[in-house]
Amino acid sequence: MLSTFSKQRGSNSNANKYSEINNVQLQYGKMLAAAAGVKRGHKVLDMGCGTGELTSFLAQKVGEESQVVGVDPDSERIKVAIQKHSQNIIFKHGESSSQFPHFDEQYYDIHFSNFVFQWLTPEEKEIFVQTAFKCLKAGGKIAIQSHEDDADIVKEAKNISVPKGYAVRRVSAV
Ligand SMILES: C[S@@+](CC[C@H](N)C(=O)[O-])C[C@H]1O[C@@H](n2cnc3c(N)ncnc32)[C@H](O)[C@@H]1O
Repeated sequence: MLSTFSKQRGSNSNANKYSEINNVQLQYGKMLAAAAGVKRGHKVLDMGCGTGELTSFLAQKVGEESQVVGVDPDSERIKVAIQKHSQNIIFKHGESSSQFPHFDEQYYDIHFSNFVFQWLTPEEKEIFVQTAFKCLKAGGKIAIQSHEDDADIVKEAKNISVPKGYAVRRVSAV
């Protein structure tokens, strides 16, 4: 059912329009992919994939033998993504708290998310990170790029990750 999510944030513009004007997000997203070390063979989850342009770039990076899963709560954006991009990508309507391919197994090398985190409530952020831990392989990475000016995103990541022995690295100027 495509209309189960009532409130959608970060998706005010029309889906086709967003697909044409997301160059800035795409360029920054490519930098995040480089910082996260996305490479051939990786299994990547793109949470909040929008219309899929960055997901497509990630799919090229991991290669045809691997796969990227893109998830977004905006059904119109997911429709555009499915129409425009296909090779080695699965697009699913959903979000962190819903079911998506391999949501309940240690499967992904990278839980990737570009300009999504700033739209989430504190409760959703917690679910977001819990979901990421659940579906990542041992040694997997969470890569988040956000608009937030203050360091809340880094503080939250540290609170959750450092006690568990994970490292948090802040990439400046992105
Ligand atoms: C600024 S767009 C970024 C899209 C894409 N990541 C990119 O870099 O072009 C933010 C996206 O976050 C999605 N979003 C909003 N709330 C979300 C949630 N709880 N979980 C996942 N995605 C969400 C929106 O539907 C929207 O497509």
